[in-house]
Amino acid sequence: MDVKQVLLKSDVLEKAPWMHSGDIRPYVFVRPENRILNPGARHHLDWFGHEPIIKNPMDLRELSFADRIYSIEERAFGPSNMAMPRWVFYDCAVIPGFVAGFAARPQALSSAARAALDPKAFPATGSPIHKSKVLKEVQDLLEMDWVPLSLFIIIPTIHEGEWVAHNLCSVNSLLAKEEQFYGLGFLSKAFGLWYANVELCSGMTQWGGPALRLHAHFGALEVIGAYAPVHSHAMTITYRCEVNVLNWEQFFTKEPDLAFLEKFEPAGLELDPKSEVSQVALQQRIENGEGPFYLSASEVATNDLTEILTLYRIKKQS
Ligand SMILES: CC(C)(COP(=O)(O)OP(=O)(O)OC[C@H]1O[C@@H](n2cnc3c(N)ncnc32)[C@H](O)[C@@H]1OP(=O)(O)O)[C@@H](O)C(=O)NCCC(=O)NCCS
Repeated sequence: MDVKQVLLKSDVLEKAPWMHSGDIRPYVFVRPENRILNPGARHHLDWFGHEPIIKNPMDLRELSFADRIYSIEERAFGPSNMAMPRWVFYDCAVIPGFVAGFAARPQALSSAARAALDPKAFPATGSPIHKSKVLKEVQDLLEMDWVPLSLFIIIPTIHEGEWVAHNLCSVNSLLAKEEQFYGLGFLSKAFGLWYANVELCSGMTQWGGPALRLHAHFGALEVIGAYAPVHSHAMTITYRCEVNVLNWEQFFTKEPDLAFLEKFEPAGLELDPKSEVSQVALQQRIENGEGPFYLSASEVATNDLTEILTLYRIKKQS
C-alpha cells in the first residue's frame, strides 16, 4: 500500500477546541518493550500537535493512572455487562498491545468532570481500584499530574500489518452533554491508529450501538463477520478497514463520502441491526464467499442507530 503524504488542515478540529490548549493531551500507556518506533510516520496528519504523555504500566507510581483508565471502562461498559475483568486489561491489553487516549491536567477540569472521573465516588459499580495492604489507595485526582479521559486499546495480530481495536471508551458517556469533549472517542482511536502506524484495523462492536458511527470513518469498513455467537453478544459486527486518513475529516464535516461512492456500489442487500435473522443471513453469504461487503460511513453516521443499513460491494471494472 502507498504511504500517502497528505497534510490535513487542523481547522477541521474547530469542533474539538479542547484539543488545543495543551491541558488535554494524547497519552500512551505502554510497556517500554512495546513502544512504537517512528510514531506517526505512516499517516501524514497534523492533528496531534502536543507531545504525547508516555506512561509505563510496569511502574507502580503509575498505578493511579491505570486505576482511572480501568474505572472509566468499568462504568462505561458496566450497563451492557461487558466491563472487562481487571486481569483481561493486564493480560490481553497492556502486555501484548498498548492503551492510548487523552488525559487532562486535573486542575483544568470542571467540577462535574472531576466528579465523573473519581472512581471512589462509584463504589456500587464494583471494585476497580487495586487492593494492596502495602500500597496507598488510588491517588486523589488533584494529586495526579494527568488524569485519563478516554481509552483506546489496540493489539497487534498474527496477520501482518493488522491490529485489533480491542476497546474504546470515553468519559463523554458519563457526562452531561454540555460537559462533553466533542470528538473525544473518535480522536482517541484516530490518535492510536496514527501513532502506531496502523495499516489494517479490525474490531468488534454491537449492531445498533453508537460506536459504529465512529468506527466507520477510519477507512472503508468491510463486514468480515455479521453475527458472532462465539462472542458473549452474538449480535456483534466484526469489521476491518484499511486505515485511510483521507476519510477522517468527514467525521467532523459530515460531507458525503464521494470517494466511497466512486469505488463502491450497493450490493442489493440490506442489514437490519435489530434482526438476528438478517445478521445470520449476511454471515452465511460472507461464509459462502459472496462478499466482500462494506458499509458507508455517511449512511452509518446519518441513519438512526437501529435503521436498516445498505451493504455495498466494490464496483466491477468496466
Ligand atoms: C461509543 C463512545 C466511545 C463514543 O465516544 P464519544 O466520545 O461519546 O463520541 P465522540 O464525541 O467521539 O463522537 C460523537 C459522535 O458519536 C456519535 N455518538 C456518540 N454517542 C452517541 C449516542 N449515545 N447515540 C448516538 N450517537 C452517538 C454521534 O455520531 C456523535 O456525533 P454527532 O453528534 O456529530 O452526530 C462512548 O460513548 C463510550 O465510551 N460508550 C460506552 C462504551 C462503548 O460502547 N464503547 C464502544 C465499544 S466498540
